[in-house]
Amino acid sequence: MIAEGRRILVASNRGPVSFGHDEAGRVVPSRGAGGLVTALSGALAASGGLWIAAAMSEDDRTQAGRPLDVEAGPAGYRVRLLAFDPATYERFYDGISNRVLWFLHHRLWDVPREPTFEGLAGAWAGYLAVNETFARALEEDGRSDARQAFYLVQDYHLALVPSLLRRRIPDAAIAHFSHIPFAGPSGLRILPQPTREALLSGMLGADVVGFQAPAWAENFLLCCRTLRDARVDLRRRIVRWEGREVRVRVYPISIDPGVLREAAASEPVASAARDIRRWAGEQRLLVRVDRAELSKNILRGFLAYEKFLEGNPEWLERIGFLALLNPSRQHLPEYRTYTNECSELAERINGRLGGEGWQPIHLSLKDDHPRALAAYQLYDVLLVNPVFDGMNLVAKEGPVLNERDGVLVLSENAGAFSELGRHALGVNPFDVEATAGAIATAVRMDPSERRRRARALRVAIARNPIDEWVGAQIEDLERVRR
Ligand code: G6P
Repeated sequence: MIAEGRRILVASNRGPVSFGHDEAGRVVPSRGAGGLVTALSGALAASGGLWIAAAMSEDDRTQAGRPLDVEAGPAGYRVRLLAFDPATYERFYDGISNRVLWFLHHRLWDVPREPTFEGLAGAWAGYLAVNETFARALEEDGRSDARQAFYLVQDYHLALVPSLLRRRIPDAAIAHFSHIPFAGPSGLRILPQPTREALLSGMLGADVVGFQAPAWAENFLLCCRTLRDARVDLRRRIVRWEGREVRVRVYPISIDPGVLREAAASEPVASAARDIRRWAGEQRLLVRVDRAELSKNILRGFLAYEKFLEGNPEWLERIGFLALLNPSRQHLPEYRTYTNECSELAERINGRLGGEGWQPIHLSLKDDHPRALAAYQLYDVLLVNPVFDGMNLVAKEGPVLNERDGVLVLSENAGAFSELGRHALGVNPFDVEATAGAIATAVRMDPSERRRRARALRVAIARNPIDEWVGAQIEDLERVRR
């Protein structure tokens, strides 16, 4: 069993439960179904653990403070939501996490114009305050149980928690995991020096610093070399810092094929599949499933498809592009503008190349999980072309559910590429022409080659079981403790 005699304490900004209200105005919980929840629930339940997260909405705030029980299989675990003053939380979440760290690590800034860092000091104060509150909560909850705790701190939102917690409990066993990419030293140098040093030294408070893919771990190690007092062993992936050894490791997160297949066997998915079949008819089906998110490179995906159709007019009216986009962070102007640009570009391409009764792109902008699962089953080609992406689970979920030996076109800059790239058609996500070429290769690929690749993708995904992700982190923490 994982971490026998130890308790697992998880900290993340978005928790495994959130609250809304029903028609009668009652506050009701809903369980998150994201990759992190799937990856952590088993280990948390097995260790009788606790998950600390931020109250992100007004309804969440009504539930903050008291322990909430979450079921996970036969056992369960507890969740505690932390409520923050809204202005502080805004500085932490939008001011730093979404607008600085997310943009930095995914390289989303239009650098001739941005960033300008107006208001950075105030936003940073909010970021520090929220990180400090998380560290305090972890300390308190860790103390409430005589067993020693493993602290698993998640993502860029909480980059300062490891060092803040280490200050409170010098011998704590702490892992920090980044679910997103990590910028290299030249990217990180965009941040003012005190900010970038605070970030790196914050993460170095952990015993184990984890990433989704080797490239992000290497970038982090190279960034650490810019710290005057750090000694970095690139080969062994160790940073000597403040008298400790910090291990930098790669733990690629996976999915649970069983859970996914079960979800896909539901009536709403079957109904969505009938709908898609009706729309597609005899056409080949190109699919993308993404949050409407700048890093997902949706515009270049559409441009590549347009180029493909122009260069291969025999495919006009014989293929359809189903783009399922889940609106995200629409309160940020950058995201609203980007989402509008995606719609406008799809419309322009439809107007230009579409004909009577044939629409080249069908764009759907809503949160529709059953439809996404149905699209996974039915694609001939799945386009996953993010500019940079920590992992990208669409690239894993799609091949598990697909029933047509569909071809995966995959960005070389997605973390998933290091596990799946050999069996996909790899693309440089910035190269529109090359992406158009990959779409052409995919639709022309002969059936035996498609079958071979589809099978190899499923084998590669199955080779990395979901429990492995947390299990490997716990093992490394145990090794450090010994
Ligand atoms: C994606 C990333 C996660 C990140 C999350 C934040 O899922 O893979 O690493 O934590 O976005 O999204 P949110 O909607 O919570 O800001």
